[in-house]
Amino acid sequence: MQISWLGLEGKSVIVTGAASGIGKAVAQEFLNCGANVAVCDLNPQTPEFEINENSGKMIYLHTNVCDAQNVKETVKRVCEEFGTVDVIVNNAGINIPSLLVDDKEEHSKYELNENIYEKVMDVNVKGVYLCSQEASRVMVKKGAGVIINMSSESGLEGSQGQSIYAASKNAVNSFTRSWSKELGPKGVRVVGVAPGILEATGLRTLAYEEALAYTRNITVEKLREGYKSTSTTPLGRSGKLSEVANLVCFLASERAGYIHGVTINVAGGKTRG
Ligand SMILES: NC(=O)c1ccc[n+]([C@@H]2O[C@H](COP(=O)([O-])OP(=O)(O)OC[C@H]3O[C@@H](n4cnc5c(N)ncnc54)[C@H](O)[C@@H]3O)[C@@H](O)[C@H]2O)c1
Repeated sequence: MQISWLGLEGKSVIVTGAASGIGKAVAQEFLNCGANVAVCDLNPQTPEFEINENSGKMIYLHTNVCDAQNVKETVKRVCEEFGTVDVIVNNAGINIPSLLVDDKEEHSKYELNENIYEKVMDVNVKGVYLCSQEASRVMVKKGAGVIINMSSESGLEGSQGQSIYAASKNAVNSFTRSWSKELGPKGVRVVGVAPGILEATGLRTLAYEEALAYTRNITVEKLREGYKSTSTTPLGRSGKLSEVANLVCFLASERAGYIHGVTINVAGGKTRG
């Protein structure tokens, strides 16, 4: 018998990049909903979660989403521990702000180069493909499952100083659309989530803020003012990680059973497309 509105009790869920930020909040919310969660991350340190008698089980699997063999082993382990994979949240991602051309200094550290390109595309695009492929092998076999891809509003809008990141997220949006056509007929739903400006996560380091401010020719203080400006975000505040986590859990549930092939933005009105 289902005891909650979302009915996620006992579901087997993989969340990548779940040692920090959005992924950690998502994993915590699934645990709160009674789902069993495989927390997968590159970070070797096991993160702490709040667990009570109604929570699902948590296992921590040290995983590099860019390593095909590693991803294969992770999915196998999850099936051994929890019996199957019902949901995968492709959340692991990185962002390295850079300009296409820095007219202040040629080849400066803030100019896009092949190393930055490969790093960002490897985690944000190849990682999503590898994890989705392994998880959907299990889902297709049983004719059920949900893939949730963490995108970004920059993937819809483009972003000054973040072109490679925005391109990687647009590629993820395209995965969501294409896989919905391939996997929908096999009973697997695919959806995307595109957050706007959120409360700070591990991604927002000082080095990140300095780089982004440089690419926009503004100070870090000015950049920070933008986090709660109503001219940027009509709701005039940063989003809470829990607000993203709530959306992800809803999308994973049967309550969202007809939502498929789209990327839903959770951006306080910053992006309206
Ligand atoms: N924070 C935001 O405002 C925001 C907005 C839009 C989208 N996003 C997206 O949300 C996702 C999570 O970002 P966050 O802000 O929580 O960042 P975060 O840095 O707090 O968390 C990202 C996690 O991914 C892990 N990771 C990185 N590379 C990995 C790899 N190769 N294999 C496995 N794990 C890896 C990191 O160790 C980290 O724990 C990313 O995809 C990001 O692009 C974030």
